Amino acid sequence: MTRSVQPLFKPFANDKWSLANRIVMAPMTRGFSPGGVPGPDVAAYYRRRAENGVGLIVTEGTVINHPAAAADRNVPHFYGEAALEGWANVVKEVHAAGGKIIPQIWHVGTARQRETFPDSDAAPIGPSGIAAPDRQVSEPLTEAEVVDLVGAYADAAAAAKRIGFDGVEIHGAHGYLIDQFFWDVTNKREDRYGGDLVQRTRFAVEVIEAVRKAVGPDFPIVFRFSQWKPTDYTAKLAKTPEELERFLAPLAAAGVDIFHCSTRRFWEPEFEGSELNLAGWTKRLTGKPTITVGSVGLDNEFTNVFAGQGAGTDNINGLIDRLEREEFDLVAVGRALLNDPAWAAKVLEGRLGELEPFSPQALRSLS
Ligand SMILES: Cc1cc2nc3c(=O)[nH]c(=O)nc-3n(C[C@H](O)[C@H](O)[C@H](O)COP(=O)(O)O)c2cc1C
Repeated sequence: MTRSVQPLFKPFANDKWSLANRIVMAPMTRGFSPGGVPGPDVAAYYRRRAENGVGLIVTEGTVINHPAAAADRNVPHFYGEAALEGWANVVKEVHAAGGKIIPQIWHVGTARQRETFPDSDAAPIGPSGIAAPDRQVSEPLTEAEVVDLVGAYADAAAAAKRIGFDGVEIHGAHGYLIDQFFWDVTNKREDRYGGDLVQRTRFAVEVIEAVRKAVGPDFPIVFRFSQWKPTDYTAKLAKTPEELERFLAPLAAAGVDIFHCSTRRFWEPEFEGSELNLAGWTKRLTGKPTITVGSVGLDNEFTNVFAGQGAGTDNINGLIDRLEREEFDLVAVGRALLNDPAWAAKVLEGRLGELEPFSPQALRSLS
């Protein structure tokens, strides 16, 4: 028996935002934007989730204006007239359905494969040009290049505000550019962007400050981070709550409103000796609202997106317990919502028996 799902559907409000409920669509790269331009099919895809009750949509990662920002040709851009017009249409459709939406702004750093772009000479870039342990793919960024990158994030955030988005999410997770600065394996710099864990937050701090300056005091800034990397699921930037506190403090001070704490299984304790997950600890240590994520509504964890997964309703009970205890504020749902646009409506109406198993087939189209 599943208990009342009501806590998921309590409105959320703080000084900058009011959301109809606690369900957030997690950012998921889809690769259906040829030439970087999201078309009407992308707008309709997001609109379907808004129509079915998702409280906040975070778009797929959309790349900032830098020649090496993307790892795939069909991911959407967040610059240039055509792409921004496409995004403005996405916003219009989602708002018409009563939803809220923010873009996730992204630079992949050294995760770009040169082979994917045979006609481009834009080399992958990163703090030290290191893609993974023992894999040097380019020269370290110069300080002037770092400053330009900070400006490109700020330009993207300004565009988000200009075309009507409800906020912006900065992608600081999953081993991409910002996270490459955080991680000592990929950041060996000896200037002000490198050093200990706190010093390695410098790039992110400058990005957040520049974004805040570009969007003003009232526009919500969400910051996504993760301990795990695609090359190392066991990696930890912070090994203790004290380290996590030191890591988060400069980011919070720079202007983050909400932390989006990316884990693969929301029920896993982040540190020994407490049941709190990463979002729980982050809320406790910063006092900021947090978003949790990781295998909500699925019976298996996020390891391989190409693997099928059952619709697990059991973990929804545990999720609701944590939400009621106010361990975190919002819940991001990835694959379950990619699979089924009506996932939130079914949960809200208690139609849990109608939830569908995740099928990798769903990745093939924008249903
Ligand atoms: C197809 C796919 C694409 C993804 N793309 C992104 C992305 O662009 N940005 C991001 O931060 N996370 C991305 N993720 C991770 C999800 O946001 C989410 O954290 C992860 O899927 C775990 O949630 P879930 O178990 O509910 O699917 C992606 C996940 C999937 C399945």
